Amino acid sequence: MAGAMTGHPIGLSIRGGVKVYPGTRALKGVDFDLRMGAVNVLVGENGAGKSTMMKVIAGVEPLTEGEILMDGKPCHFRSKDDAQAAGIGIVFQELNLFPDLTVTENIFMGREITRFGHIDRAAQRRETAKLMARLEQDIDPDAALGTLRIGQQQIVEIAKAMNEDARILILDEPTSALSSAEVEVLFRLIDDLRRQGVGIVYISHRLEELIRIGDFITVLRDGEITGSRPMEGVDIPWIVTEMIGDASKDFPPRATRIGQEVFRAEDVTLPREAGGLAVDHVSLSVKAGEIVGLYGLMGAGRSEFLECILGLHPHAGGAMWIEGAPIGRPSVAARIARGVALIPEDRKRDGLIQIMAIRENITLSALKKFARAFHLDLKAEASGARDFVSRLGIKIASPEHPVSSLSGGNQQKVVISKALMTGPKILLMDEPSRGIDIGAKAEVFRTMRALAEDGLAILFANSHLEEVMGISDRIAVMADGRVTATFDGETAPAAEIVAAAQKQQKVPA
Ligand SMILES: Nc1ncnc2c1ncn2[C@@H]1O[C@H](COP(=O)(O)OP(=O)(O)OP(=O)(O)O)[C@@H](O)[C@H]1O
Ligand SMILES: [Mg+2]
Repeated sequence: MAGAMTGHPIGLSIRGGVKVYPGTRALKGVDFDLRMGAVNVLVGENGAGKSTMMKVIAGVEPLTEGEILMDGKPCHFRSKDDAQAAGIGIVFQELNLFPDLTVTENIFMGREITRFGHIDRAAQRRETAKLMARLEQDIDPDAALGTLRIGQQQIVEIAKAMNEDARILILDEPTSALSSAEVEVLFRLIDDLRRQGVGIVYISHRLEELIRIGDFITVLRDGEITGSRPMEGVDIPWIVTEMIGDASKDFPPRATRIGQEVFRAEDVTLPREAGGLAVDHVSLSVKAGEIVGLYGLMGAGRSEFLECILGLHPHAGGAMWIEGAPIGRPSVAARIARGVALIPEDRKRDGLIQIMAIRENITLSALKKFARAFHLDLKAEASGARDFVSRLGIKIASPEHPVSSLSGGNQQKVVISKALMTGPKILLMDEPSRGIDIGAKAEVFRTMRALAEDGLAILFANSHLEEVMGISDRIAVMADGRVTATFDGETAPAAEIVAAAQKQQKVPA
């Protein structure tokens, strides 16, 4: 599908683009050219800076350094409206609509059709009906948006952007909630727009989709552009290499002693509220001393599977064993007592109480251990906390300081300590390296390896390929609720892991 190199003028470019958020350099000096009459695809792992780069172009976020050129001239968008006036439309990754308003009202929000000073609702409704017909959708213009399926809401969002007649149209993960039939419709529309000369930016984690639709590809890694070229000749291994770089650096050596099976799951299922299965007959085992990485895209069902193990879902089906004995009913307290511990994805929300002292956070989950008759044995509690502070090398001035005073990596170690206080046999970790800097990540991985060396079984979910490949003894790939492949951690080929993660059974239209 890729067009010739000629005939695709550069409509917009970023020169030396730097974007600093508090605590993060999201873009570290990017040079990007957006070509007209073409689909410019953007790819990179979670947090690579894709959305940030597009928000900068769409006037939503200002650049910290560098400039944006449109048709060769510097431009300064102070808001989304500024960029919109210059012909730039964006469909955000997160839905940005009003569920209580109708489809029509959402589409014309801020660009109402007026007649004699009044909103011409009939005209708006007609236009909406036309748009829906063009999108091959049977959606009532008067329906409240919130009553539609998420995929349909996403289509409305796309319709809204199309209705703005943008010269440049940015689609940030537009297909994450679309059925395969809806994806085909979207691709036909993108094709139309491309032929009309629109410059399209298309972001997705689905590599096959990108190769199919793209004319040019740009790969981002950690705020830098690592590769940018016409799509001709690009294959999945090339993309993966640009995405993750050299995967073998900075990880501790792999397990030397793997012991007996600690945990086994067979045919674990979890029904989704909207129908279908969030976890679809997952079978998996983890041995003492072994680190098993669960790799997958957003929504693959990794977190839900971990939650099933912790006993958070009373409706989960299937069977699980700890050291050969049935794990028992799904109750979190009972599962913790059986030796399961989970470190949740969002440590700010679920893991830590920021204003409490480090010591209190560590011992929170195991206060019972320190309860002597009717009072807390404060001395034992303090020494328990000190044990972990030194065992995990947590860098603190005093255990009495609040957790909020620690760096992200050290906070994560406090979370790990907290989980270890309950004496788990299997430690579940959901995105343990999320939101912490590179140095802290290396520390967390060393900590995981040290715990495994002590005989702990570890099962962790991660969406960063180089991390999963760097630390896991075994890799299980999930897509659409199922385990689609398992690999030996040391020899797994990156492109095959990625391919397994993309085996989606799309939701039927
Ligand atoms: N408003 C914000 N404030 C602080 N940090 C932010 C903000 N938005 C993004 N970041 C950080 O900037 C980095 C880049 O984020 P960005 O959303 O651009 O990534 P992405 O490539 O779009 O990832 P994904 O594939 O998960 O959508 C990340 O480290 C993210 O945590
Ligand atoms: Mg994004």
